[in-house]
Amino acid sequence: MTLWGGAFSEPTDDDLRALNDSIGFDRRMYAQDIAGSIAYAQAIAQAGIITGEESASIVQGLQKVLQEFEAGAFTLKPGDEDIHTAVERRLTELVGPAGGKLHTGRSRNDQVATDFRLWVLDAIEEIQARLVGLQVALVEQAGKHIQTLMPGYTHLQPAQPITAAHWLMSFFWMLARDVERLDDCRRRTSVCPLGSGALAGTPFLIDREKLAQELGFTAITANSLDAVSDRDFAAEFLFGLALAGTHLSRLAEDIILYSNPLFGYITLNDRYSTGSSLMPQKRNADPMELARGKTGRLIGNLTGLLTTLKGLPSTYNKDLQEDKEAVFDSFDSLTRLLPVVTAIILTLQLNPQRMQAALTEDMLATDVADYLVKKGLPFRQAHRVVGEVVRLAAEQSITLSQMPLATLRGISDLFGEDVRAVFDFQQSVARRVAPGGPAPEAVIKQIQLAQDWLNTRTHG
Ligand code: ARG
Repeated sequence: MTLWGGAFSEPTDDDLRALNDSIGFDRRMYAQDIAGSIAYAQAIAQAGIITGEESASIVQGLQKVLQEFEAGAFTLKPGDEDIHTAVERRLTELVGPAGGKLHTGRSRNDQVATDFRLWVLDAIEEIQARLVGLQVALVEQAGKHIQTLMPGYTHLQPAQPITAAHWLMSFFWMLARDVERLDDCRRRTSVCPLGSGALAGTPFLIDREKLAQELGFTAITANSLDAVSDRDFAAEFLFGLALAGTHLSRLAEDIILYSNPLFGYITLNDRYSTGSSLMPQKRNADPMELARGKTGRLIGNLTGLLTTLKGLPSTYNKDLQEDKEAVFDSFDSLTRLLPVVTAIILTLQLNPQRMQAALTEDMLATDVADYLVKKGLPFRQAHRVVGEVVRLAAEQSITLSQMPLATLRGISDLFGEDVRAVFDFQQSVARRVAPGGPAPEAVIKQIQLAQDWLNTRTHG
């Protein structure tokens, strides 16, 4: 029997039921649904709608239902359309007619909006903790490679020498923004819709502020029509996860490239790479490919929800039931991915000699231009002069430093014997000490900033 069948003379068609039911996926909100109902039972008792005894027996019954879920002992029955109907059905079995009073002034519309917000609030916490875990791993690995030189790229072309720590730390800051973005999402999610009824509020004078506080929300919704149909928090959460995934995907792409034998900058730990069933030499970065691949899903889930929302008339529509699987899927994808990515970063073996060997003197062309600037040449002209030097060196198949001083002076008489000192990768990097730069000195400060950031996260 359904909970809403009073006006219906025929039972629901089986195929419709299979389509309509959401219990298959929304049962994972059982704890939030029960918490919401416990708080609601107390609120309607305080408003004088049910007696203190009725409220107490409802609360007790709900605690029993919670235990059943927790012990895996909850049995679904036909008609348990979603988590809300299932919990209420079982409650009524346990406590009798008092159970039937719980839903006074409440609708599944404000109920589901409340449950889902509570669930997303917990999920934000969980994702943030895992993101921070990865950030800690990045700092740890970066700490080992403050002096390790490697090529930095733009357009995937070797550009300028940097330090490996600097490369790793670049991802720390992307993730820091992801964590902070979720703080922002939390602020707008932590608003309680309960007391909005189906759409038009409730005539019962329940203390919505107190109810919200009881459930751990920081505010109450201001408009019942908006309250039952607002899924912005879910879209924001999905966006936050999609963008975090996008960052992981970029990290993954670097690791895939750098672990390719052509680069050989890093070797993946045996535990976190896979072989080929056919080609014995292969060491594939499968988990990183999954990080890149799963991001497609994360973006898809966001796009899917936005598409669902965009044409909805006011207020609640059943379309909204489509919100949960997207959110659960993105959450599950990311919570499965993050520990593996974190372990990969922690166990990453960097190969400094391979990184160093990939540095070529043309990556110092900017340094040569800077040298000329220090001799008084405007940068634009210096750029042109060095361009000529680079071309000549390529024509003669020699490196920049192999070019005789006389030839250099033929191009610009600003070149002197001291230009030799420019051809030193370590010095090139060490000069880039401005805050945010790759010099070991600057990276040490950057890591300190990162640690401060982490400290404010973990100690308030
Ligand atoms: N399972 C529904 C959902 O997830 C609950 C709300 C149902 N409300 C309704 N009026 N049919 O959206």
